[in-house]
Amino acid sequence: MTDSIAAAGAEAAAVTLDVDAARARFPAFSTDTCADWAFFENAGGAYVPRAVIDRLVRFMTAAKVQPGAPYPASALATEMMAEGTNAMAALINAQAEALVLGADTTTTLHVLANALSMLIESGDEVVVTNLDHEANVTPWRRLTRRGATVREWRFDPETGALSLEGLEAVLSENTRLVCFPHASNITGAICDVRAAVPLAHEAGALAVVDGVSHAPHGLVDVAALDADAYAFSAYKVFGPHVGVLAVRHGLLARLENQNHMFLAGTGALAINPGGPNHELTAALAGITDYLDDLYRHHFGDGSDRSARDRVKAVFGLFEDHQHAVTARLLAGLSAHPSIHVIGPREAGPHRSPTVAFVHDRLPSRMVAEHLRHQRVAVRHGHFYAWRCLQALGLDPDDGVVRASMVHYTSGEDVDRLLAHLPE
Ligand SMILES: Cc1ncc(COP(=O)(O)O)c(C=O)c1O
Repeated sequence: MTDSIAAAGAEAAAVTLDVDAARARFPAFSTDTCADWAFFENAGGAYVPRAVIDRLVRFMTAAKVQPGAPYPASALATEMMAEGTNAMAALINAQAEALVLGADTTTTLHVLANALSMLIESGDEVVVTNLDHEANVTPWRRLTRRGATVREWRFDPETGALSLEGLEAVLSENTRLVCFPHASNITGAICDVRAAVPLAHEAGALAVVDGVSHAPHGLVDVAALDADAYAFSAYKVFGPHVGVLAVRHGLLARLENQNHMFLAGTGALAINPGGPNHELTAALAGITDYLDDLYRHHFGDGSDRSARDRVKAVFGLFEDHQHAVTARLLAGLSAHPSIHVIGPREAGPHRSPTVAFVHDRLPSRMVAEHLRHQRVAVRHGHFYAWRCLQALGLDPDDGVVRASMVHYTSGEDVDRLLAHLPE
């Protein structure tokens, strides 16, 4: 190791996330509606930084015309939309041509399932989990209409996690698809995608990963994960309301056209009926503008480092901070006499900062209501992971109270939640 690399490493190790600086970049924190609230609904949808709003305003002001023509406003629209798409590709280390930008993840996965259905025949098996948000279940279960059989990869209600042994038990020579989450939006357990994808591939199946609950917290590398399709929701990663789906190039070519007949063979466009929302696509680049800005704030110019290394450094800060607030929340919840935490009880690499819990005596609805009276923004319910709640032996309608944190969640936010939990 050279001295300069060692010095850079030591410097990086000493840097911690400047949470105030991050929050200062989110206008929501200074609005009447949000300023006094401890916000724990991030897994539902995160606040957006000024950089995203700026891109949106610029597009709506100077480029709100049909893109693709040579006059200035249209050329700017084309350029800004390409920047947004390229930003998402860079963020998850995918090819921009492989991205489908849809209304949300529910929509992109439904469209993918329709496009893929022609590859499924009677006797084929499709693996889904009982841990996922329903967005990654219903479209695949509907493949029974093509004669497929559904096999369920079940999680362990004790740990809240999916095991590789559990996957092996449901794979067979007939498996064509394995659909699973990168992280659970209820238990917070992170799935070992790098190990699960090869198991699916060895069985001759495609792997479809729902990364919605992971992408805000850990840097996604679609190329390294080797999934055939990877979906996430940009609006939970500090961006506008867009669903981003990366599809392996070889698979794109085999999918049935979902668009106008003359668009067959156009790759991602062919499985994006109607095309992407223009202004929101443009605004996506604000996410990486923000991450770049945070990099400079913490580490300086960074022009000697690759863009990937810079974003890795920022996510490294996020992870350390998320780990700290998760540990603080879990410690407080565990010390409470009436609270039971769902999923891993310890913060760490196998747990995301999405923490669900129930109260021994009070319905989740009442606990959430009580916290909201103290300006702690939480919600209760099944969060569309209905099957997960059932497997946990909970009434899905009352469900759990969920406190989901991101890098801008402060220790004070956590303390406010803990201080106002009902006895
Ligand atoms: C884990 C998970 N997957 C999928 C979805 C669906 O995402 P969207 O709202 O973009 O359709 C959600 C939404 O909360 C989610 O939490």
